[in-house]
Amino acid sequence: MSDLAGKHIVLGLSGGVACYKAAEFCRGLIKAGATVQVVMTEAAEHFITPVTMQALSGRPVYSSQWDAREGNNMPHINLSREADAIVIAPASADFMAKLLHGRADDLLSLLCLARPIERVPLILSPAMNREMYAHPATQRNLAQLRADGAVVLGVGAGEQACGETGDGRMLEPDELLQELIAHFQPKRLAGRHVLITAGPTYEAIDPVRGITNRSSGKMGFALARAAREAGAQVTLVAGPVALPTPRGVQRVDVASALDMQRAVQASADAVDVFIAAAAVADWRPASAAERKIKKDGSGDVPALAFVENPDILAGVAASPRAQQGALFCVGFAAESHDLLAHAQAKRERKGVPLLVGNIGPDTFGQDHNALLLVDASGSTELPRADKLSLARALVTEIARRLPR
Ligand code: CTP
Repeated sequence: MSDLAGKHIVLGLSGGVACYKAAEFCRGLIKAGATVQVVMTEAAEHFITPVTMQALSGRPVYSSQWDAREGNNMPHINLSREADAIVIAPASADFMAKLLHGRADDLLSLLCLARPIERVPLILSPAMNREMYAHPATQRNLAQLRADGAVVLGVGAGEQACGETGDGRMLEPDELLQELIAHFQPKRLAGRHVLITAGPTYEAIDPVRGITNRSSGKMGFALARAAREAGAQVTLVAGPVALPTPRGVQRVDVASALDMQRAVQASADAVDVFIAAAAVADWRPASAAERKIKKDGSGDVPALAFVENPDILAGVAASPRAQQGALFCVGFAAESHDLLAHAQAKRERKGVPLLVGNIGPDTFGQDHNALLLVDASGSTELPRADKLSLARALVTEIARRLPR
């Protein structure tokens, strides 16, 4: 992945135990293609050495405003103007209090103050003890920093290095990376609410058995991430899959097609876009046994009767809001052959403006895929790529088709 190719990040560390996470975050930035200039406060150097950060970033660390390595002796000007973003991770309570007042008595606070405010975003990842985080002074400072144009990220909850439990932990390196990558994505879905189904469904036969399919949920989850990166509010209704929830996405876990339908119906009236990426089981056992079905030793197999599941997508697409164009519906089709013809027929049958075709065996469980978009005016191919790239391209195609 080279999501940050061409981006130059100033990574600032202020003092806190979470400095150890900044080391891994720095590695993640480099892996994602960014160049990284680390700047540390004196307090940060008590927690992690500049040697580590230099080794990981591949550049000498700056920590003094008097650093004479810069020809003009103005590291605060040079470093802040080169940056595509300044990320402070960890941002300590003290450091943020300082920023709030425009104080600039060390290199990191100085370059934050000196940054061209319209062009270089300042992203703060707070990290502190839960009492410090909850303190009215800190909360007041966070609100004011936001009002002054900084992006203040959330914090994690849970066990803290001090032994207490609560809000205030710094985000994990991967969460921070997702936030930064999202920051640079165009906000094509700002102000929109997107509902997505993903994964398989599980239709119970009895309390220990059921039927399902091989959908991994990866495409639906990638779409949820891409829609959120594009600025949308995202609700993800997920069948049973073992995937982490993309940051900032509201996830509703379901098992059966009927559960999925209920969850979708609970949100459908409030959303602008519905993307049905789930591989919903077409049939379910007519009745699930309350107790485990036992072998009786006779060699007879149980007779299973099936009933058809409701078509969730077709139901939403037939709703008045979808018919009036206020709710844009997107369907998926997993086919084994004659993709274009089947996708066209399915688009008509489901009554959706856009249908995304793919070859089932080529996508289930895979990290890559290729998509064929079919709408009223014809078809477009999104060539083979990783699912997140395809999801971003699909989000762009959807955004282009939405009413303004
Ligand atoms: N879908 C749905 N509810 C169902 C079945 C399918 O919402 N009960 C949605 C899927 O999420 C997908 C689209 O409909 O967006 C196509 O699903 P698919 O299973 O490929 O189509 P079917 O209508 O089942 O057609 P067929 O089995 O003939 O391929």
